[in-house]
Amino acid sequence: MSEPIRWGIAGPGFIATMFARDLENIPDDAAIVAVGSSRPGGADEFAAEFGVARVHGSYAALAADPEVEAVYVATPHSGHLAAALTAIEAGKHVLVEKPLTLDEREAVRLFDAARANGVFAMEAMWTRFLPHIGRIHELIDAGDLGEIVQVAAEQGIWFDPGHPEHRLYDRRLGGGALLDLGVYPVSLALSILGAPDRITAAANFTKTGVDAQTTAILEYDRGAQAITTSTLSAWTRTGAVIAGTRARIEIEPRWMMPSDFTLITGDGARTEFPNDYVGHGLREEAVEVARCIRAGLLESPRMPHAFSLLTMRTMDAVRAQIGLEYETTT
Ligand SMILES: NC(=O)c1ccc[n+]([C@@H]2O[C@H](COP(=O)([O-])OP(=O)(O)OC[C@H]3O[C@@H](n4cnc5c(N)ncnc54)[C@H](OP(=O)(O)O)[C@@H]3O)[C@@H](O)[C@H]2O)c1
Repeated sequence: MSEPIRWGIAGPGFIATMFARDLENIPDDAAIVAVGSSRPGGADEFAAEFGVARVHGSYAALAADPEVEAVYVATPHSGHLAAALTAIEAGKHVLVEKPLTLDEREAVRLFDAARANGVFAMEAMWTRFLPHIGRIHELIDAGDLGEIVQVAAEQGIWFDPGHPEHRLYDRRLGGGALLDLGVYPVSLALSILGAPDRITAAANFTKTGVDAQTTAILEYDRGAQAITTSTLSAWTRTGAVIAGTRARIEIEPRWMMPSDFTLITGDGARTEFPNDYVGHGLREEAVEVARCIRAGLLESPRMPHAFSLLTMRTMDAVRAQIGLEYETTT
């Protein structure tokens, strides 16, 4: 039996707390041994909730902790690259929250550094590792849908515009609908259809200068299209439909979380795939990290560097069309 991966958490906020709770389901694969905040005392609450003994007042101190084997970067988007580089240069493996970085150039820098330091690096696109998404890829690969012609996926949540200081509304922190929410539908479309031949995008903006709502059409010369939508302004259906020449798959209610889905053939025959997953699901990406580290891999075959670079490149192209710029460090 292998020892659990010894995790250090950088940025003990909302998602880090969800991640830590879900890791409690996989004690053989993951143990949180340390936590680091950018502020002295900032990690105390997290450390108390999860019984973490090693508490650091900077990401550099966390990265230097000899007990830490892998760092989970869970800061706002604008902080991903710096926190990841700090860990990588200290010889730690990294799992970096989505979107990996602010743009493709930053992503290249992150992966180049990881390779140069001989450490594992992966974007925390947790949805890709959920059982229902895995099953859907199996059905697609087996030809059950025929040739895929359309993917339509959405992610929309109403975030109170009365809190313009929130990271989602703050351009300096990489806020906006596309990077935070749109990365899910874009990632799904790319995982099924690959790199698009053309991209068309439209957006409307918040008063704080980030995209409130962005829709992108990804077009493929072979005749396929994907429509990806994301909004901070409405509670959308958050469903996804993957349609092919033989059948379609409908994923509802929230396709990016553990979910039911249905396979519907052209003649209307329905096969239901009920969701029986227990728990949040964030642990699945940690299981993959553990598997890869134990196998000595520097990237996951299921979420390779090239795929995250494609995701960032696609979002860069969307941002160029809608006029959304971030201050990057590259
Ligand atoms: N996988 C998912 O389902 C999911 C869901 C939500 C978010 N996320 C991703 O997780 C990341 C963090 O999101 P979150 O909602 O957890 O964020 P959050 O709770 O607002 O912040 C996370 C941590 O980042 C640091 N931080 C917060 N505001 C900051 C600021 N203004 N400047 C610098 N650092 C700041 C704080 O840690 P310190 O104490 O270290 O400063 C904070 O605890 C984002 O990349 C987001 O896209 C993923």
